[in-house]
Amino acid sequence: MYVCRACGGVQARWIGKCPDCGAWDTLEEHRVDRAAERDPQRGAAEAWALDPSALGGGDAAPAAAAKPIHEIDGSEANVQRLPSGIAELDRVLGGGLVPGSVTLIGGDPGIGKSTLMLQVAGRLAGGGGAAAGSPRAARVLYVTSEESAEQLRLRAQRLGVAQTPELFVLADTNLARIIEQARRTRPRVMVLDSIQMVYKADLDASPGSVAQLRRCAAELVYLAKLTGIAVILVGHVTKEGHLAGPRLLEHLVDAVLYFEGDRYHAHRIVRGIKNRFGSTLEIGIFEMTGYGLREVQSLGALADAAGASESRPGSVVCPVLAGSRCVLVEVQALTATGFLGAAKRKSSGLDANRLAMLIAVLEQHAGLRLADRDIFASSVGGMKVAEPAADLALLLAIAGAHYKRGLAPGTAAVGEVGLGGEVRPVPQLEQRIREAQRLGFRNVIVPLAGAPKGESLIRVRTIAQAIEQLG
Ligand code: TYD
Ligand code: MG
Repeated sequence: MYVCRACGGVQARWIGKCPDCGAWDTLEEHRVDRAAERDPQRGAAEAWALDPSALGGGDAAPAAAAKPIHEIDGSEANVQRLPSGIAELDRVLGGGLVPGSVTLIGGDPGIGKSTLMLQVAGRLAGGGGAAAGSPRAARVLYVTSEESAEQLRLRAQRLGVAQTPELFVLADTNLARIIEQARRTRPRVMVLDSIQMVYKADLDASPGSVAQLRRCAAELVYLAKLTGIAVILVGHVTKEGHLAGPRLLEHLVDAVLYFEGDRYHAHRIVRGIKNRFGSTLEIGIFEMTGYGLREVQSLGALADAAGASESRPGSVVCPVLAGSRCVLVEVQALTATGFLGAAKRKSSGLDANRLAMLIAVLEQHAGLRLADRDIFASSVGGMKVAEPAADLALLLAIAGAHYKRGLAPGTAAVGEVGLGGEVRPVPQLEQRIREAQRLGFRNVIVPLAGAPKGESLIRVRTIAQAIEQLG
């Protein structure tokens, strides 16, 4: 069969363009190994399975039998999570790492995956989670398949975790040797940084190929379930090139987290895409400093603080919900002379379809002539905003850029925009207003329907009323 390196789609024959994700030249031949697919107890982990002394209770993998749901032991479900002690990450994980689970952390190269993982490993091994209820330090095995152990130690010094006796480091890429070392050190958490560089020697495929990635990950999932080790896999997102991407592994693992934001900005957002043990609505916000990633609790940080004190055309701050928290995000737009019929519409961090729709609404219901204007829109700081509640802010940013007028200083805006030019209510409006006011936005433009009472609120029913606010 032919498997796409980028999305994992399977095709029966080779084609230049993957029909599932649209990427070019990413299909790779993949020999189906029938014997290996039939055998669930794969590879080197099998030897471990046959050695009962290596297993916690000795019966971690009994033959499964169907039974009524109420007879299933519930205590196993109430597993003790391992909090990492880094609150921003624990929230995304749903409280901490679950023993026996496999977590995948993906992101662009250089965004800070290794940095975060080493910080987590250091906290866990140093008993950092203890304050949150974990009794003692958890042994961590950090397998580095890209850097040498010396490089890792240098980084650990910078992060202040170089003196942690329970943190074990192994620089290896051979899966059988890695599993053997895990058997000897008996860690509670194992980090593989990165899974793409790990290979199985008995497999006739190069490291980083689809076949290697799948087989190695499957074997590590089996190992986690068998031994109760919480396994973390680090994967690079690859645009092109010869490495298979982490999306191939999403269905195999229990939780998938991705790093967002770009490496040229200090802010990094960790977002849950899949989580069998928690919600995927939560995000964690970090800032890259000279001493590793720092948790960001004050959420105004993503909106430039100047937005509260200065009027800027083409820039509007919007309180956006992300899980249980509210983040102020600055939305910017720029219009420039373009060609009629070939005007550019580009967005970064914002939904391109919503942008196109808002431009049409502005033309039809507010009388703006944008057909020959290039329009660029972006969310500052690299956070992806998908909520329709950000519509009004984006619309006001475009209108402000077009008229070269800004909102009064200290004004934020939130609301969904309908095709009829009406401003529609958004969920949890009060929480958004409270957060905006806490961070110094005196006035908030809100939808008339469902708006609470308050002096500082500017209630609008249509986009025309909102555009009047541009001074
Ligand atoms: P890294 O964690 O190696 O990224 P990844 O594993 O995702 O490829 O590092 C990301 C960048 O962060 C790197 O370019 C250097 C920078 N950095 C800091 O700014 N401060 C630090 O304390 C560390 C360790 C790295
Ligand atoms: Mg790295």
